[in-house]
Amino acid sequence: MSSTDFDLRGPAFIHNPYPTYRAMRDRAPVWRDPYTGHVFITRYDDVLGILKDPRFGSNRINDRLKRVPDDVDVSRLVELLVDRLVMTDGSRHRDLRREVGSAFTAAKVRSYAQGTDAMVRQTFDSLREQDTLDVLNDLALPVPSRVILSVLGLPPRDHQKLRAWAEDFYLWLAHSPGDIGVRTQRAVDSIVQMSDYVDNELSALPSGTEGTYVARMATNLESGEMTHNEVTANLIGILNAAHETTSSLIANGTICLLEHPGELQRLIAEPDLIASAVEEMLRFESPSQIISRIATEEAEIDGVTIKPGVMVALVLGSANRDERVFVDPDSFDVNRNERQNLAFGRGSHFCTGGGLASLELVSVFRQLVPLLPKARIISGPVQWRPTPAFRSPRDLVIEFDSVAITIAEFGGDWYGQVPTADGSSHN
Ligand code: HEM
Repeated sequence: MSSTDFDLRGPAFIHNPYPTYRAMRDRAPVWRDPYTGHVFITRYDDVLGILKDPRFGSNRINDRLKRVPDDVDVSRLVELLVDRLVMTDGSRHRDLRREVGSAFTAAKVRSYAQGTDAMVRQTFDSLREQDTLDVLNDLALPVPSRVILSVLGLPPRDHQKLRAWAEDFYLWLAHSPGDIGVRTQRAVDSIVQMSDYVDNELSALPSGTEGTYVARMATNLESGEMTHNEVTANLIGILNAAHETTSSLIANGTICLLEHPGELQRLIAEPDLIASAVEEMLRFESPSQIISRIATEEAEIDGVTIKPGVMVALVLGSANRDERVFVDPDSFDVNRNERQNLAFGRGSHFCTGGGLASLELVSVFRQLVPLLPKARIISGPVQWRPTPAFRSPRDLVIEFDSVAITIAEFGGDWYGQVPTADGSSHN
């Protein structure tokens, strides 16, 4: 393994990690971080290979808890993580995914299109006549929250609480700076509150409720198809997963378009490119930059031996800029139309909510894009959150030059352009 050193924490890296990733791909594509002992994999083919390789497992909870001080009681957190889809493998994962993913099949996602569009439109309506837009707080956070609650059959009233809990968990997961004991305690408190929330909603369901996702979970519970912990852990898992990533992409995509006015103009001229533009945003500024696996057997990657028990960091943000796969990868091209980016992962854990996320994103950008030519960022130079595993700006406020926000969306039938949820076409 190369002894080459790379700084994956400093401000220059956080601002723009891509030159470092290019150097890693060229000089040390399998690189052990001396600080954490994790092995970073940066080339596309290696990342894809590991995502499909059964010698790399998904239960990485112990590694996550290594640096948490003993006086923080993480028992409930562990219980609620261990049964999550994303932490399980093999037949257990397959069985859980059949149930947990039942709301996100291609057909189901198509059935959400009109409702999603209506929620996005209402959000823009509530912003009408504003001259500035706080992209995160006015748009990127509320839309995914409202959509996921509606898809799951949960009441919309609690969306702010859920967002705040999801944020605490995300900051812990992202290894964000600060006291790890304090951060873990907040994640524990929030996840316990989410678990109480889910329990209350399940027990408050009027008897005989049918047709909603939550009702299906309640039936699974009654029939013994799923345990109580599996239902709670996975409802929380979906609520968490649906919030931060989709919000980040709305913000990241807005930045991409404002920083590439030529591509924005092209999109205005050819609105049919909107789904391809969303794919390109996912590739260019992937919200999940790094996902991880644990080696369960010895494996050799690019001539480097990885021992059992070692955590591998799969750098999706690097794989998606790999010049071995993508032509001119550092250019943002709304007509790239290469669907093989890894932003939603790949293999058995391919993002269950990918289709829903794409649906929301296309709907949001259909309404946002026509407003952007008259907009500029007024929250200062973009500052990215100091979390290498996830990419999103700390804040993003834009101002409109001469027009206040109006509803001026692209027309046309767009639902058919949205990618499917099962990722089968990617495998
Ligand atoms: C732009 C938005 C999104 C991005 C970039 C994203 C990214 C990802 C990635 C990279 C994975 C794979 C994790 C791994 O293999 O370790 C994943 C898995 C997952 N995502 Fe998403 N996601 C997004 C939106 C959503 C939404 C809206 C939902 C829920 C409706 C969701 C639910 C899930 C679930 C449940 C898994 C675990 C799947 C499994 O382990 O089988 N995601 N996501």
